[in-house]
Amino acid sequence: MKTNKMRSNFSMKTFFYIFTIFMLILLYVSLNDLKSTNEELMDQKMQSLEFVMEKMLSKLEEDNFSRKKQAEMKYILQWTSPSTMPFVYMGKGQQHFIEKNCTFTNCYVTNNRTLLRDYKNFDVIAFHGPEVIRLGKSSLPSRRSHRQKYVFGSMESSDYYPVCSNKLNDFFNWTWTYRLEPYAKWGYLTVRDSEDRIIGPKNEMHWMKLAEMEDVSDEFKNKLKSKNKAAAWFVSNCNSRSGREKFVKKLQDELHQYNLGVDVYGNCGPLKCSRNSENACDMAVEKDYYFYLAFENSFAEDYVTEKLLRALRHDAVPIVYGAANYTRFMPDGIYLNARELGVENLARKMNDIISNPDQYADFFRWKNHYSYHDSLDSVDSDYYCGFCAMLNDEEYVKVPSVIKDFRKWWDPPGRC
Ligand SMILES: *[C@@H]1O[C@H](CO)[C@@H](O)[C@H](O)[C@H]1NC(C)=O
Ligand SMILES: *[C@@H]1O[C@H](CO)[C@@H](O)[C@H](O)[C@H]1NC(C)=O
Ligand SMILES: *[C@@H]1O[C@H](CO)[C@@H](O)[C@H](O)[C@H]1NC(C)=O
Ligand SMILES: *[C@@H]1O[C@H](CO)[C@@H](O)[C@H](O)[C@H]1NC(C)=O
Ligand SMILES: *[C@@H]1O[C@H](CO)[C@@H](O)[C@H](O)[C@H]1NC(C)=O
Repeated sequence: MKTNKMRSNFSMKTFFYIFTIFMLILLYVSLNDLKSTNEELMDQKMQSLEFVMEKMLSKLEEDNFSRKKQAEMKYILQWTSPSTMPFVYMGKGQQHFIEKNCTFTNCYVTNNRTLLRDYKNFDVIAFHGPEVIRLGKSSLPSRRSHRQKYVFGSMESSDYYPVCSNKLNDFFNWTWTYRLEPYAKWGYLTVRDSEDRIIGPKNEMHWMKLAEMEDVSDEFKNKLKSKNKAAAWFVSNCNSRSGREKFVKKLQDELHQYNLGVDVYGNCGPLKCSRNSENACDMAVEKDYYFYLAFENSFAEDYVTEKLLRALRHDAVPIVYGAANYTRFMPDGIYLNARELGVENLARKMNDIISNPDQYADFFRWKNHYSYHDSLDSVDSDYYCGFCAMLNDEEYVKVPSVIKDFRKWWDPPGRC
């Protein structure tokens, strides 16, 4: 409806311009006939008339151009199943981009390979990581245009879905994953500075040192006093590749001597917190727990999930367990790293920190300078909007790009 209206507005405008120009031409011709009578005066009038006509023409050309720009849809073909992350949220057609109020909404998503007759006509062909690594050559496109971008998209960790062969080397032009580089990012969280500018996560972060950060308020310190349990762990997959469940078991044994423990919620523990009472669980984390286990199910570079966000947003100090370089995500001194510390040191440290409220409060100094967000919560960090914007960056799209050694880039070292 809206586009129809815009279109009819446009034709009205065009009609108006053409009509006016036509009238001006008529005037010009008739004035030319009169020219002989008053040479000088007429010359002046003719000149100003020509000037007006020129202006009108250039305006019309401009309109033509902007219409062409608007109509220039970017077509994205989902080669693999459209119901998989991250592509499922793209919806169909322009739906997601319009609903999210993206700056660019001229991206069109489909899984209809014949929509543009030949699939070589799509701007992007998108492949879902966990599926495409299993496809044989005959299931991949056999022809490609040198202008299109083949995109590898995955939110699933490479440790669960390694490619373990060279078949996808020299195949993808862009990646769209949780990895922070080289191309588009699909992240679980966004870091902003105190002026609300997006600053990370990224490979090179320039964090303030903990000592330079402002102390937390007395009010906040008071709020922390409600905490009376050591750590919470929310988990649904009880047999992970990272072996986090074994680590937690040992941690519980170790904490026992300090009269501390880990409360395990979900499929793998005695405590329940259903999905529809997520808010209540968040509140419990905030009120009761000193620490929150942000333990990943697998070890892969940059693989950091929403668990970290939950801890940071609900005032529990995250204990991380993963293969990411966490300095890309958080300043030092605001979290504990389980793999680096090992079970014994971690348990001791947790006990020390719990017994020292001032030290514990320092873990929250970051809140005076940074904030953590779900990336989908705003337009400027929404990576679907970002993806469409990327397709509209003509200079960037023009640069030929390819992941030459995909296997080396994707597979964790020593995985296959
Ligand atoms: C507008 O675009 C049409 C088709 O692209 C072209 O034929 C026409 O000459 C253009 N008009 C102007 C004023 O540029
Ligand atoms: C998009 O904009 C419309 C109108 O301004 C508004 O009603 C809607 O809530 C916005 N949607 C989002 C996801 O921000
Ligand atoms: C795909 O698009 C073509 C061209 O518009 C159309 O004829 C065909 O019916 C579509 N196929 C499906 C499954 O929608
Ligand atoms: C983590 O990243 C920082 C910043 O890029 C770098 O200085 C540091 O060496 C990295 N650590 C590891 C273990 O790679
Ligand atoms: C995409 O990668 C292919 C394979 O390496 C390459 O031939 C093509 O030029 C690249 N296209 C773009 C647009 O980057």
